Amino acid sequence: MPAYAVIGGQWGDEGKGKVIDYLAKDADLVTRYSGGNNAGHTVINEHGNFAFHLVPCGTAWPNTLNAIGNGVVVDPNVLIEEIKKVHDANLPGKIIISAKAHIIMPYHVELDKLQEIQRGSSAIGTTGRGIGPAYVDKVGRMGIRMGELLDPQKLKTKLKNIVDQKNELITKIYDGLPINITDVHDSVDNWHEHLRPYITDVGKKTNELLNQNGNIILEGAQGTLLDLDHGTYPYVTSSSSTIGGAITGTGIAPKEISKITGIYKSYCTRVGSGPFPTELTGSKGDKIRQQAREFGTTTGRARRVGWFDAVAGRFSAKLNGFDSLVITRLDILDEWEEIKICCEYELDGKIIADFPIDIEQLGRCIPKYKSLSGWKTSTSGITQYDDLPKQAQTYLAILESELAVPIYLISTGPERNEVITLNEIVTR
Ligand code: GDP
Ligand code: IMO
Ligand code: MG
Repeated sequence: MPAYAVIGGQWGDEGKGKVIDYLAKDADLVTRYSGGNNAGHTVINEHGNFAFHLVPCGTAWPNTLNAIGNGVVVDPNVLIEEIKKVHDANLPGKIIISAKAHIIMPYHVELDKLQEIQRGSSAIGTTGRGIGPAYVDKVGRMGIRMGELLDPQKLKTKLKNIVDQKNELITKIYDGLPINITDVHDSVDNWHEHLRPYITDVGKKTNELLNQNGNIILEGAQGTLLDLDHGTYPYVTSSSSTIGGAITGTGIAPKEISKITGIYKSYCTRVGSGPFPTELTGSKGDKIRQQAREFGTTTGRARRVGWFDAVAGRFSAKLNGFDSLVITRLDILDEWEEIKICCEYELDGKIIADFPIDIEQLGRCIPKYKSLSGWKTSTSGITQYDDLPKQAQTYLAILESELAVPIYLISTGPERNEVITLNEIVTR
């Protein structure tokens, strides 16, 4: 039976956490496939209000296993904390971690911060969680994997040389403070003690469940436009947040994926640097940010806000092969006088409908908008499509037609049941 990929269509924070918590009711397994604790996935349900950074968003369901896939980079301190929160809140879902997932070590976190300082005015605006340096070591075949925590003595011996090398880099190139090897060794013992029971062969477990007709949700982190290859490079994250990452990051065959769903906010946000053609700056942006409470789930940073960008949205839809859409935060638009959708760009005097590869070109793009007047009435918590104001229905129809993908789900509030289901995504 099938796997369902659920992927952010914009620059992250589309509401993936809320939607995956909702969809996980019918899942046997939810697997996070990429990124690390740069992600912040908000889930609000009968157990409380949670911001998950590493643990997948299916923990509210007793029969749903939650796996951290091999494509994820894991900061063990953050994971231990998060598992404790899950237990303290009596969330019933079980958690497992791929032995192949790479570890974010303290020197990765240090290097992330120092490298950002060195980038100066071209800083990426990373979350400072060590994500980039951890993936660099993975690709450079110098990384440490979760499975190595099962033999702490061996790992500690190996780490002695690695920490020496990293300290050369930290102190001589970046003028930072060295990492203390004794602290690292103590951490390894602590991680071994707390995480050992969770480390396993997630790929094998996943394929066993597929053979038993299980339902599997592949939980995306970040968003398509932050993808290392396909996003607005270099202002991206260091992993494959798109459909390719869902395969390499979990160890399942592409043919097992039966549906690919794209999640989009009903407008756009972006955290960190990089081009954002439809961005609203100044007091207009400030007003929307405050009203929408657009501040990061992981870092608390103010998110940049702007109109829905259908040029970028179409690019994401095509790249991932989205066959259904989820539109979130419709209720945030309730008070807006006018709502705009960017359907084309003007680049150097020419109208274009494709998302440029070159970020300097993207930076010069002038959005061409369709505009409609707002509905000025509350949609908060609406669960029936027919109860939506006509203007909201028109807005959704424009999004659907611009992206040429049907909308299956509309989210009208942060809580699990604040949702309009037009079509089932995960079916039993
Ligand atoms: P994620 O990273 O994609 O999981 O998204 P975040 O959790 O970082 O940010 C989404 C924010 O929007 C969170 O605060 C959610 O609680 C909230 N949210 C999700 N869906 C809706 C919705 O339909 N309406 C409103 N008002 N808030 C929503
Ligand atoms: P979720 O899963 C929004 C952004 C950072 C920065 C860039 C690189 O909650 O949607 P990194 O620390 O990954 O090296 O930072 O990527 N970024 C996110 N923005 N949501 C996220 O995750 C993000 N994860 C990383 O702000 O611009
Ligand atoms: Mg988030």
